[in-house]
Parts: sequence; structure tokens; C-alpha cells
Amino acid sequence: MPQQSRRSFVKNSALASAVFAAPASLRGATSPNDKIGACVVGVNGRGGSHIQAWLGDSRTEIVAIVDVDEDVGNRRCSAIEQKQGTRPQLYTDMRKAFENDAVDIVSTATPNHWHALTGIWAMQAGKDAYVEKPVCHNVHEGTAMIAASRKYGRMCQVGTQCRSSRACIEAVQFLQEGGIGECNFARGLCYKRRKSIGALGGYDIPSNVNFDLWSGPAQYTDPKLTRQRFHYDWHWQRLYGNGDLGNQGPHQTDVARWGLGIDTHPNTILTYGGRLGYQAERKDPNYVDAGDTGNTEVSIYDYGNKCIVFETRGLDVSDSADEELNKLFQSTRGNKIGVVFYGSEGYLVQRTYSHCIAYDKDMNVIREFKGGDNHFGNFLDAVESRNREDLNADVREGHLSAAISHLGNISFYMGEDNRVGVEDLRSAVKDIRSLDDNLKTVERTIAHLEQNKVDLETYPVSLGPLLKFDPEKEVFTNNSAANAYLTREYRAPYICPKAADV
Ligand SMILES: NC(=O)c1ccc[n+]([C@@H]2O[C@H](COP(=O)([O-])OP(=O)(O)OC[C@H]3O[C@@H](n4cnc5c(N)ncnc54)[C@H](O)[C@@H]3O)[C@@H](O)[C@H]2O)c1
Repeated sequence: MPQQSRRSFVKNSALASAVFAAPASLRGATSPNDKIGACVVGVNGRGGSHIQAWLGDSRTEIVAIVDVDEDVGNRRCSAIEQKQGTRPQLYTDMRKAFENDAVDIVSTATPNHWHALTGIWAMQAGKDAYVEKPVCHNVHEGTAMIAASRKYGRMCQVGTQCRSSRACIEAVQFLQEGGIGECNFARGLCYKRRKSIGALGGYDIPSNVNFDLWSGPAQYTDPKLTRQRFHYDWHWQRLYGNGDLGNQGPHQTDVARWGLGIDTHPNTILTYGGRLGYQAERKDPNYVDAGDTGNTEVSIYDYGNKCIVFETRGLDVSDSADEELNKLFQSTRGNKIGVVFYGSEGYLVQRTYSHCIAYDKDMNVIREFKGGDNHFGNFLDAVESRNREDLNADVREGHLSAAISHLGNISFYMGEDNRVGVEDLRSAVKDIRSLDDNLKTVERTIAHLEQNKVDLETYPVSLGPLLKFDPEKEVFTNNSAANAYLTREYRAPYICPKAADV
């Protein structure tokens, strides 16, 4: 870049185009070179991909790593030092890292309950933020993140990388140009085997972890952990995670909403399902798994003239899809993770993150779309251009798509104790407003549970309430108790501000 360094360009352009309070960039740069200084927060699993992305892009240098697990953080710093030649500074408290003026961008792959606070704190400190999906743990947090991005003039990209996948971009364009006729209905699938995470119990917290910081906004359960494995399995405990509807789900809810051109929240939501089948899996009728999120959920979202249905299945899915889905996914066995769009003249299937297929009504393939993504590179492009429109997954998109998962889970959580027999489920669901064949989806779900030896008399499916939602005000209009689930009780000082207070 002529005349001025890339780094000062990023900072100066931010200054010129944004209205924000006392960002780090105003306090003077201390960067050792011309590069964009990256800080990665939460580096055990997905954080490794963030590190690879920044190491692989000549525009960035990793200057800081934050992890509350010292062993994980040190391991990553050593690996980065080997490749990069310089060792990033290691922090356990992200607030200290955000005071570092060498940090320009923050990318975060912490557990979900930390996403919003990390993103907001980073943006308040004048950093641009790349935040993993789901962008927030509850609906209000998403709204606060949008407000922070706008108030501080920061780029905020959400880690739904399908938004940058060539296959998905071209497939959505084809869909929106009428490639399969008129299309108002999409079905998202997360048929992904998830075994039990072990019995609910009292397990030791690893000594290398700062558990106070790890717990952050969530209730502090010291001195014991209720799950066996410390990392990753928090996904299935609602204090921290959002189940697979909110884990794998946001990739597919996002593609479904994007393809249908929906730019709002649903009007009504209903979920039925359960955390089922682990007694049979463990051959112990009294077995209690440590997870408390659904492993089987069907969520129906009505958007007026459009509709999304999302099916989550965590039990064995080797052989449990119906013939139509097998054909559409071109696979008869195993996991099925993707989206089917149903058009008046055909189908479009997002089969993987980098492969989509369009069919006519007779299931003849009419087009295929292939190609991967550089979602991190797209974020850097916007960091440099200072134009939010350049982001493929701006925080508002992430919020609307994460909210699909959160709203579905709210109906599930509220209906947990409403266990119903199969006949009652059929009659309750058959007339729910939807563009799906609701009964066919019930039958497919029941058949899947029976294949997994779930005794539905002893462990019946639960039926959530039909929740009415005001998409503008983001409140439920027919169930005031449901509104409590749109936020959480925060543990000071880890309090996510309301949108008006960011
Ligand atoms: N975009 C994708 O394809 C994709 C893929 C996998 C995971 N993810 C997302 O990435 C996130 C992380 O998932 P994971 O599987 O890596 O989880 P993980 O539990 O393996 O890793 C999380 C890391 O964050 C650290 N951490 C927790 N609280 C912290 C804090 N306050 N400050 C700093 N570090 C903290 C933990 O110690 C751990 O090292 C999740 O939100 C998940 O949804 C996205």
C-alpha cells in the first residue's frame, strides 16, 4: 500500500469513518511492523483454525493469544512462534489483551456463553471482531452486539463461513433468480451422531484452568463440574451451550434464511423433541446423561409467507432418513448436515459447505455448485476497506440466524415437562401453520427414535408451546414467561450490556 502503512491505513480509515469512543487506535500504535495485529481468544479447538487463517494471510501477525487454560494457550503460542518467528503475548484475561495497542483485530472461539461479551468488549476497546457462531448465547446479546458494532464503528463478522463459500453464494443466487421456481420453504438438517457425554456427576476442574474466568457470565459451579470432559462438551449444557440446534444449526439456519431472502425473525415458533435414547445406548434404564440440551428436536418457524423447519438428530442416523432425503443428499447412510429448498419447479440442496446441487421435480440434477471459502480473508478485506457492506456475514445476519436456534430452544425448554404420547403429538402438530407436511416429519422423527430403541412410553417426546414473537420488538406476545429466556441472569462483573447501554 503506497504512502502509508496498511496498519495506519486501517486505523486512520477507522478514525475517519467511524463514530466511536476512545478506541485503542486513538492511543497510538505500537505495532512492530506494517501488519494487522491479531488477537485470538479461546484456542483449544476452533481457535486453531483462526490461528491457521491469520498465519496464512500475509496481512496479519498474531500478537496476542488469550486462553483461560494456560496449557492450551502456551501450546498454541509455541506453535505460532515456530511458524511466525515471533511469540504472541499470552493472556488469561481478555480485558488485559484488549488494552494492548498492538491488537487491531480480535477473533474469538470461546464457548458460546462468552461470545457476546468478548465481541462487545473488543469493539468497545476499538478492535474489529470476528466472532464464532452462534454469535450470542441468547437473543438480547445479539441485539447488543449489533448496537456495539454500529456505535463504535467496528467491523463484526460472524463465523458462518458458508456465507463466503463460492458454492453457497452461487447456489443462493441461482435460487433467488428462480432456478427452482418459486421457493418459500426450506428444511435444515443436523442429522449428526452425538453420543452421551457421560453420567451427570461431580468431576474435578482441571488445575490449569481459571474456572472463574471460564464461567464468566454463567453461574459459577465450583468446586465441581457436572460433566466428565472439560472442553467441548459444554455445548450440551445450556448454561454455556445451545445444543446442536445452536451449534451445528446456525450454519444451516443461516443458509436457509439467506436462500429464502428472509430479513427478520419468525412470527411463530414451536419445537418438539427431547434428550432421548441414552438409557438404551448405555443399556441402563436409570442412566442420566450430563447434558441438558435437546438431542432430538424438530422446530417449526413461520415467517408469514415463508417457512423454515429445522430437524436436529443426535442419535444414530445411519439409516434413518426417508427415501426423498436420501436421494436429495445422494447418500443413504450416515450424517446429513445441510439444507433442502423446496421450489415449485425443483429442489436445491446444500449438501456440504462447498457443494450444492439443484434438481428438477423428477430429481434429475440440473446444476451443481462447488467451491470453498476464505471467510477470514473476507473479514480482513472489510477491516481494510472500513465498509461494513464488504462483510459476507455482518453481525446482524449472525444475530437473525442465531436467533432461529435460540427461539427454537426456548419452545423446547418451556415444553420439557409437557411429555406427550405419539397420538397426542400427531394431533397437536398436524394443524400448526407451516409449509411442511407436519405429519410426515413427525412420522420420520418417531421412526428414527424407534430405530434407536427409545421406549416412547417410558421416555415420551416433549411438546413445546407455540410461541408468538414480535420480530420488531423482539418479545413474545402470547407467553410472558418465555421472555425471560431471551436473556440470562449475568454474574457480575461479566454482565453483557443491553443494546441501549453498550
Ligand atoms: N465456524 C465453525 O465451523 C466452527 C467449528 C467449530 C467450533 N466453532 C465454534 O467455536 C467455539 C469454540 O468451540 P471449540 O470446539 O473450540 O470449544 P473448546 O471448548 O474446545 O475451546 C474453547 C476454548 O476457549 C477457552 N476459553 C473459555 N473461556 C474463555 C475466556 N473467557 N477467555 C479465553 N479463553 C476462554 C477454553 O479454555 C478453550 O481453550 C464455539 O462457539 C463453536 O460454536 C465454530
